[in-house]
Amino acid sequence: MTGTARSIHDIDTVALEGTEDAPELVIIDQTLLPGEVVLERLATREEAWRAIKRLEVRGAPAIGVSAAIASYVDAARAHAGLVEGLSAPADAPAMLARVAETCDYLGGARPTAVNLTWALARMRRAAEAEAAQLEAIGVSGAEAATAIVSRLREEAEAIRDEDVRVCHAIGEAGVELVREGDGIVTHCNAGKLCAVRYGTATAPIYVAHERGMNVHVTCDETRPLLQGARLTAFELMAAGIETCVECDDMSASRIREGAVQLAFVGCDRVAANGDVANKIGTSMLALACARYGVPFYVCAPTSTIDLSCKTGADIVIEQRAAEEVTEMWYAQRMAPEGVDVYNPAFDVTDADLVSGIVTEYGIARPPYDVSLAEVFRRKAEAEAEAAVAPHRAAATEEGSR
Ligand code: MRU
Repeated sequence: MTGTARSIHDIDTVALEGTEDAPELVIIDQTLLPGEVVLERLATREEAWRAIKRLEVRGAPAIGVSAAIASYVDAARAHAGLVEGLSAPADAPAMLARVAETCDYLGGARPTAVNLTWALARMRRAAEAEAAQLEAIGVSGAEAATAIVSRLREEAEAIRDEDVRVCHAIGEAGVELVREGDGIVTHCNAGKLCAVRYGTATAPIYVAHERGMNVHVTCDETRPLLQGARLTAFELMAAGIETCVECDDMSASRIREGAVQLAFVGCDRVAANGDVANKIGTSMLALACARYGVPFYVCAPTSTIDLSCKTGADIVIEQRAAEEVTEMWYAQRMAPEGVDVYNPAFDVTDADLVSGIVTEYGIARPPYDVSLAEVFRRKAEAEAEAAVAPHRAAATEEGSR
């Protein structure tokens, strides 16, 4: 571990640094927040896996970007002969085999957030497509291995840069729901610390703040790992946004008192029917919002939407260690030794409790089978447009000569 930073908003949550031959994944170690802002530089896939598992880096988009960068870092270091016990992959098949192995390994770190497997599948596809192209033009051996590593770097940087753009677009779409003076409740951390910048659930809040609107945010503490109290409150306060922390069991009471007009939460996986998996406790908040008529919005990039899951019942919920409930964050163990502990990291909120899903392509509303399909239609249209734009620009330039 090296380096300390002064403000959380000065640094990206996840970054790619180091040299071409010896790149590094750089993360903010979130287990130390809010006490210390420490950057951790990760050089091996084992270090990256452990950082994801231990929640040093966490939140669906951030673990996707981290895994993408880590898979590139591993390929570049393998190529440079820096991976202990491995001779440098000498050609395209050897390099593809290493990339596939690394992606499988990293994808096993956490099961619920689809962004992790989504980002790794992109990395793998990019490497395979590059290899196929090289083969078609007769490039092989070490030259092909080098080109695959370069392509992986481009893809990891694209995934990182897209995350920033997508979160900002979610902010622009979601700010339309915010009114001057609103009390907003959020659960866990779906803030800048769950992505590269902006976050998802906090993105509309940051955009509202940038536009000079006054809002006050209630952060659910988020037992057992306290992401709301430790991370969301910390980053919102650092941005100068009025913030209050409540224990999770206080939210219904606060909503009933009229202190909350709107809920924004993040998400780890959206099923095709609009059921959403997010941090444990989210469904309780959604139920309280429904009871008192508070709109409950889920902010999710399209990389979090998994149409292959028909309903929330298909989403694998991560179970975590009992000690997170009984010991962590307490000066002394607070539950009897040997007690059984229920510690799922996530829960599923039923689609009928969700007022809308704020994506980078606008807000999807019930019925979600129709509106999510429309979101993906807009995405495909935007991607097709972006693919032809450079050719159109080149043709215009040619024509003006
Ligand atoms: O276990 P964590 O801290 O990774 O859980 C994070 C959450 O549940 C977030 O709300 C979710 O990943 C959305 S972040 C955009």
